[in-house]
Amino acid sequence: MSPDVSAQVPAGVLEAVRAKHRAMWSSGDYPAVADQTISTLGAVLVEACGIGPGDRVLDVAAGAGNAAIPAALAGADVVASDLAPDLLDAGRRRAAERGATLHWAEADAHALPFEDGEFDVVMSCVGVMFAPFHRLAAHELLRVTRPGGTIGTIAWTPDSLVGEMFATIGPYAPPPPPGAQPPSAWGSEAHVHELFGDAVTDLRAETRTLVVDRFGSGVELRDFLKELLGPVIAAYRFVADDPERVAALDEALVALGDRHLQDDGTMAWDYLLVRATRA
Ligand SMILES: C[S@@+](CC[C@H](N)C(=O)[O-])C[C@H]1O[C@@H](n2cnc3c(N)ncnc32)[C@H](O)[C@@H]1O
Repeated sequence: MSPDVSAQVPAGVLEAVRAKHRAMWSSGDYPAVADQTISTLGAVLVEACGIGPGDRVLDVAAGAGNAAIPAALAGADVVASDLAPDLLDAGRRRAAERGATLHWAEADAHALPFEDGEFDVVMSCVGVMFAPFHRLAAHELLRVTRPGGTIGTIAWTPDSLVGEMFATIGPYAPPPPPGAQPPSAWGSEAHVHELFGDAVTDLRAETRTLVVDRFGSGVELRDFLKELLGPVIAAYRFVADDPERVAALDEALVALGDRHLQDDGTMAWDYLLVRATRA
């Protein structure tokens, strides 16, 4: 695939985003967040992508291997890539505990250090959505997938709890770089169609729901996010000198959780599952 000039972003901007996001996702304890909320999602993506023995698979923004480890356990030859080296280290430990063998690579989704067409399957579980330059990241996913190979993504929908959570913290967080797009746009089917265009065939998108039973109230959700999830921690740090803004963010996150709490004490987190074939 030829480089899409309109997808290009100045190197200095990318370098700054990389440093900021690496630090942000390394704060708190993302592996604990994944364990306690979304540990089943990786296997959903692996199954949707039809991953099996011998497939050469790349997981982009893999974190601690939520999707990469099940893919390796399914017999695939897997590279788990992420910006944050400490998350890759956590993934290495988990893989060893679960008897999975795979490769781990530090990589920015905007500039994947892999050859054109190197992989049969390229997937990302609530991962690539956090690379702010969507066209560039989509271009990279397409570039490293072989013709006829599979691209699979899971992303939070804009009106899901997590989509709304990112919209809620936005006004309190450090400003994004010019040209950045919001993560939950990857949870809109129209946006993904636009990103992949005619570089894929038979794109199928489906909204599904993850039922989360970890939080009994908005307060529990807020306290969990405030302690453990990097982007929320970054927002609180950004307004730390302003007690009124801290209180407003506290309230907004509690209200968000309470709004999404269902009568049975669970929360429904909607996501978009996309599977497409590289043309
Ligand atoms: C919500 S976590 C998802 C991790 C994993 N896929 C999972 O299912 O648990 C988002 C991940 O995106 C990674 N990330 C953010 N921006 C990135 C970028 N530009 N390139 C690669 N990884 C990135 C973070 O380091 C983090 O591990």
